[in-house]
Amino acid sequence: VHKQFHLGWFVDGFRVPAWNQTWSGSSDHDWAQKFYVDMARSLDRAKFDFMLFADIPGVKEMFDGSRAPATKIGIQYIDPMSIAPIIAWETEGLGVFPTASTSDWNPYLLARLLSSMDHVTNGRMGWNMVTGGNKDVPANFGHEFMGHDDRYRKANEFAEVMMKLWNSWDDDAVVRDYENNTYIDGSKTHTIDHKGEFFASRGPLAVPPTPQHHPVLAQAGASDVGKDFAAKYADVVIGASYGGVAGMKAYREDIHRRAIDHGRSPDDIRVMFLIAPTVAATQAEAEERFRLAKQSPEVDAVRHTNLINLSLHWSIDLFKLDLDKPLPKDLTTQGHQAELATMQASGRTLGDLAANYDGETALVVVGTPDQVASELQAVHEETGCDGFLINNLFLTRRYISEITDGLVPVLQRRGLTRTDYSSKLFRENLFSF
Ligand SMILES: Cc1cc2nc3c(=O)[nH]c(=O)nc-3n(C[C@H](O)[C@H](O)[C@H](O)COP(=O)(O)O)c2cc1C
Repeated sequence: VHKQFHLGWFVDGFRVPAWNQTWSGSSDHDWAQKFYVDMARSLDRAKFDFMLFADIPGVKEMFDGSRAPATKIGIQYIDPMSIAPIIAWETEGLGVFPTASTSDWNPYLLARLLSSMDHVTNGRMGWNMVTGGNKDVPANFGHEFMGHDDRYRKANEFAEVMMKLWNSWDDDAVVRDYENNTYIDGSKTHTIDHKGEFFASRGPLAVPPTPQHHPVLAQAGASDVGKDFAAKYADVVIGASYGGVAGMKAYREDIHRRAIDHGRSPDDIRVMFLIAPTVAATQAEAEERFRLAKQSPEVDAVRHTNLINLSLHWSIDLFKLDLDKPLPKDLTTQGHQAELATMQASGRTLGDLAANYDGETALVVVGTPDQVASELQAVHEETGCDGFLINNLFLTRRYISEITDGLVPVLQRRGLTRTDYSSKLFRENLFSF
């Protein structure tokens, strides 16, 4: 296990952050212009490897057509592609992962856009590859919702087409030959002539080779087909904390085994886990803060938000179920299957699961910066993981600062996280240790 680990931040979509809390500041109205750019500067100062923006390209609605539960609390994502290059321009080394779904996009359009952005950002682009498990989104694009495993079959072909497009230019195709007045040698560009089950593309891609050749790829597979897809293509594989430290360790080993099956080396992949830290100056204050977050009205907001998220993850209207009872054993989903199975197996009530959702998917760590640093060090050593992603659905500048200016300096002083970027390229930073 390498002594150092990487840091990323999982942002729950390019949307209004926690906007009506004590420390919300001006983010209710200027979030699209300011909040995430300020956040990116803080992460860059703390030498995070990346910021990842989730996305669901639709208005979240319950399955009787009601949009009120989600719109009420302001969950409405705008397209993270729009902010990604701005974040790179406003920072020195931070990588950016916008999310785009293989069920909605066209591979040529997406390969071209991401490559263009890799040029504009001089090599700091990533792509969070998702298949989009929400039933209502495909109708926005005029197509039918596909079942879980079919979506992954389509995702595999999508990624295959993109790889072919990204390899459709020889690296030395841009010749800049002044004597012969030739900028690009056309003989070094190649058609791909892909004709598959879901996609056809002739190529070559209409973008010269980019600083990173192709963007850094992230995937968070939890099912068998999901983990296989991640192990085949992803540079960064994101794991939930299902099953605690033992579950995390097993997940990483599983991803490594699958990578080897696909002819890759485990060292080609960075496995990172979601964490939900609460840090404060004293242990008592941190515990108090954590406890208060589990009381009304905060817990009502948390439970409400998570009922929406889980409903959408599973395409099941959880508002119709009894909060005081465990999840029925016979529920099934074409969405996030591992998540549903873990929660069913816990035997806990739906209300309890929703109120403590962070603790189900992200490892809860509460304490002073020193205590949290020690705990992360222990989890890193025990699981062998390559790093952690901060996960908090209720973002304020204060929370961000507690991490970037409270926790990270301690991690750095202990030699656990980087104190500077080693390269201008996102991928090189990620694989420098
Ligand atoms: C950190 C993280 C970010 C994710 N971001 C998105 C997202 O933005 N959009 C989306 O449709 N799914 C997103 N997912 C869902 C995953 O792509 C995946 O579907 C989920 O982890 C379940 O795995 P499975 O599809 O293999 O069952 C995310 C999951 C995690 C853990």
